[in-house]
Amino acid sequence: MSYQKLLDILSPDRPILDVARAVLSAPVRHLFMIGTIWYLAKSAAGRPLNVLEIGSWYGASALSWAQGLACHNGGRGSVTCIDAWAPFFDMANHADADYARDMEASLASDCAYNIFLHNVKSMPASITCQHMRGQSASLLPQLRRDHFDVVFIDADHTYEPVKKDILESLPLLREGGIVCGDDLNLQLHECDPELAQQSGHLDFIPDPKTGRNYHPGVTLAVAEIFGQVSSWGGFWAMQKKNGGWQPISLKEMPVIYPQYFSAADLARAESHFADIRDNLC
Ligand SMILES: C[S@@+](CC[C@H](N)C(=O)[O-])C[C@H]1O[C@@H](n2cnc3c(N)ncnc32)[C@H](O)[C@@H]1O
Repeated sequence: MSYQKLLDILSPDRPILDVARAVLSAPVRHLFMIGTIWYLAKSAAGRPLNVLEIGSWYGASALSWAQGLACHNGGRGSVTCIDAWAPFFDMANHADADYARDMEASLASDCAYNIFLHNVKSMPASITCQHMRGQSASLLPQLRRDHFDVVFIDADHTYEPVKKDILESLPLLREGGIVCGDDLNLQLHECDPELAQQSGHLDFIPDPKTGRNYHPGVTLAVAEIFGQVSSWGGFWAMQKKNGGWQPISLKEMPVIYPQYFSAADLARAESHFADIRDNLC
């Protein structure tokens, strides 16, 4: 029996996202992904919105983009997913990280890829979803320039790869489009900058200044390319305007939770959102 047939029997018509490590980022960030579509839909006048995501894993963020298109843009749009679905951590530097070991195993066995294929089947039929399996460095230069309304960057979080992903993405956005990404737990002005500079090759480390864990590669790359960016709970975004990049405001966005959230993810997102709602930009 094929992997897909088995997953269809185990979870017919329902994505599998209530398993360990399925929703990798802080669940609250998905509210702001859906909010980003709300922001763009205000001026899209019903035009289809095209989303590109780099790093799709089990498909949770792809389903959030699709839900945003369904709720705010009449289901008009596309979600294009790029992922190698292959091990990518430098395990010599991450041997003690349980999450990295678990991800490598799921990627190496093709479990992650098959769960993604199953999960994106639950997108509304009006939304075109396509995926490209390969390294972002090879695939991004092949994509249409000035085409996408959103490019979401969530693949390898170490400095060189994430910087390359951002730089390769910028020409793909049309005027008014939004480049965004996950896992900006701290901006450079908030953390110890010297430690960040020395640690770009590491995925996730503690910051001595704030006592919080963060991804130094994302922090460094974002700061070098844009300076300070608009961000909400670790999800960041900038809009292409008149040849430059400007922050956006999601302060007034309707708060919509992904339909696929487990009870635990919903509770985490609600509690996190309650903590940050009074200080949203
Ligand atoms: C953090 S996960 C993505 C999570 C997903 N966006 C979500 O929120 O559901 C990172 C993904 O990036 C992929 N990845 C890492 N490096 C990559 C590369 N150089 N090219 C393509 N995909 C890559 C991995 O296979 C993994 O599935």
